[in-house]
Amino acid sequence: MQFAKYVACGISLLAMACQAPAEDHSPGGEELYQLCSNCHGETGAGRPVLNAPAIAGLGSWYIEAQLKKFRSGERGTHPEDLPGMGMRPMAMSLQNDAQIADIAAHVAAMPATRPKPILDGDAAKGAGIYATCSTCHGKSGEGEQEKSAPALNKTHDWYLVRQLQNFKSRVRGGNPADATGAQMLPWVAMLADEQAMKDVVAHIQTLK
Ligand code: HEC
Ligand code: HEC
Repeated sequence: MQFAKYVACGISLLAMACQAPAEDHSPGGEELYQLCSNCHGETGAGRPVLNAPAIAGLGSWYIEAQLKKFRSGERGTHPEDLPGMGMRPMAMSLQNDAQIADIAAHVAAMPATRPKPILDGDAAKGAGIYATCSTCHGKSGEGEQEKSAPALNKTHDWYLVRQLQNFKSRVRGGNPADATGAQMLPWVAMLADEQAMKDVVAHIQTLK
């Protein structure tokens, strides 16, 4: 009897010992990031040929929020949003909120890369426009979590202009469920044309 009990216990312990590591092995942010690095680069500097912007150093709260929007379809489902549609399956491959939080923390901790501007905006003209934007995005474009407004001073100029165009055409921020995206809609209305977008983004590139 005694012996049988020990054996049974030994077997169940063994089973637990074998199962525990498999259950415990949830990949951390660094491991999860390997998938992202194909497009966003090892240092998070982005890869323009793939339309993928620099993301290193963005606030973890913002990265988390965007990954959740890509998952839910609040972002990345508009038929004209080809880059967003490329990103969406990546967010959907993350299995739960814990993985989203881990990967967001990892990307947020990467040093910002501040890619070189390539567009020909007029920063002086853009400065006047940016005065309005700074009430949410901050004087230096550092972003403000309380207003859900991300940092603008860490990524590519072409990506920022594309987002302004997306807001203007409701490709982004037009989904009724996307309350924070909708906050941008009145502000892009004041940008008359693509040149105005380039100008304000040129000014953002000068912010320290
Ligand atoms: C197949 C290429 C690809 C992969 C892999 C990929 N992304 Fe993206 N990602 C993109 C593209 C393209 C965009 C730009 C979407 C747009 O223009 O709206 C983007 C946008 C983003 C944004 C929004 C940035 C912002 O400023 O709003 C975040 C955050 C992001 N990706 C994080 C990730 C994470 C984390 C992973 C890994 C789980 C990942 N991406 C994997 C292509 C990719
Ligand atoms: C009332 C606050 C507010 C004002 C004013 C504002 N924004 Fe925003 N902006 C936001 C919020 C909130 C988001 C995040 C939207 C989301 O969650 O998808 C955002 C997002 C953006 C993005 C996308 C960034 C990214 O990484 O994808 C750009 C670009 C941007 N804003 C530029 C501007 C410019 C330029 C102005 C001035 C013309 C401006 N914003 C004025 C609140 C504001």
